[in-house]
Amino acid sequence: MPQLPNGAATPMSVVDVLRAVAGLPPKARASFCWGQCVRGTYAPSDQAKEITKSRSFTMPSRVLARFSADGVPNAVDADGRSLRGFSFRLGSGNHRSEILTQSAPVHFARTLDQMLAFLQARMPGPDGKPDMARLEALSAANPETLRQASYLAANPPPASLACTTYWGVHAFPATNAKGETRFIKFKVAPVGEERRSAEDAAKFTGLLRDLESRIAARDVRFSVMALLDRPGDPVMDVTIRWPDEDGREAVRLGTIVITGTESNEVCDASVFNPAELAEGIGHPPDEIFAARRDAYAISQTRRR
Ligand code: HEM
Repeated sequence: MPQLPNGAATPMSVVDVLRAVAGLPPKARASFCWGQCVRGTYAPSDQAKEITKSRSFTMPSRVLARFSADGVPNAVDADGRSLRGFSFRLGSGNHRSEILTQSAPVHFARTLDQMLAFLQARMPGPDGKPDMARLEALSAANPETLRQASYLAANPPPASLACTTYWGVHAFPATNAKGETRFIKFKVAPVGEERRSAEDAAKFTGLLRDLESRIAARDVRFSVMALLDRPGDPVMDVTIRWPDEDGREAVRLGTIVITGTESNEVCDASVFNPAELAEGIGHPPDEIFAARRDAYAISQTRRR
């Protein structure tokens, strides 16, 4: 049985299948459609400029951000176990950057064809369920498509969005003022994570209420970290982590403090687009990022 369509995947076909699999209403986002728009501030660290000359990361700025999860748009709450997202916009004008991160360090497909096949295999049939034989055959032939689910099963997310760690997944070329370029991976790590994770498990009130009460208590802050590359790191495959990624050298670029909730219309009016990067952070070279450059604009058109 052929496991992948022959080069049929395009950013547009993937956006359409994302929508179809989730069975979304017309104005919903194709992915991570449950969410809460928030605002805050970004303060750079002294070390940020050693990694990038991007003014998004080396200057203080206001932040517009959105916590999200796979799920039903406008539902009171999301399924606490599903993949979560955190998107944020730093800087302004030509110095604006948009970083989209998720609660797993890997994506579920290495190529766009694989992503399309992964989604198509999960399309519900007439009985409301996917064809399990087709799904199992696809997974067996493409084991890397299971790595994200394995990660989430082994690392269940904490009860709070504010205690979750988020990853940018791709390898981004970062250039500093001396003209030195190296690859980095973004990791957005909650400040005070250990204390809060222990506390929040006992008091879970739902993702949204928890977020609102923590924002009111000024208790939602994240370190924006750059994980630094080593020679030979794989930079073309978003289904694998770098060797010893959790243990390697990292530089704190700055801190995001979430100061208030915004009406969701503020985030819905535009799109967080990973292609939006100020000079100093370049586009990752892998095939999945190339598709994302178009997919977000297409999705925005679809939900107008
Ligand atoms: C490393 C892989 C990826 C990550 C970390 C990621 C992350 C995210 C996040 C966090 C959002 C929510 C944005 C928001 O809050 O408004 C999002 C939305 C979306 N993603 Fe991705 N994504 C990835 C890969 C892809 C790929 C490969 C495609 C398609 C080719 C895609 C298509 C979309 C679309 C269409 C939306 C909805 C955009 C909108 O209408 O606002 N994503 N993604």
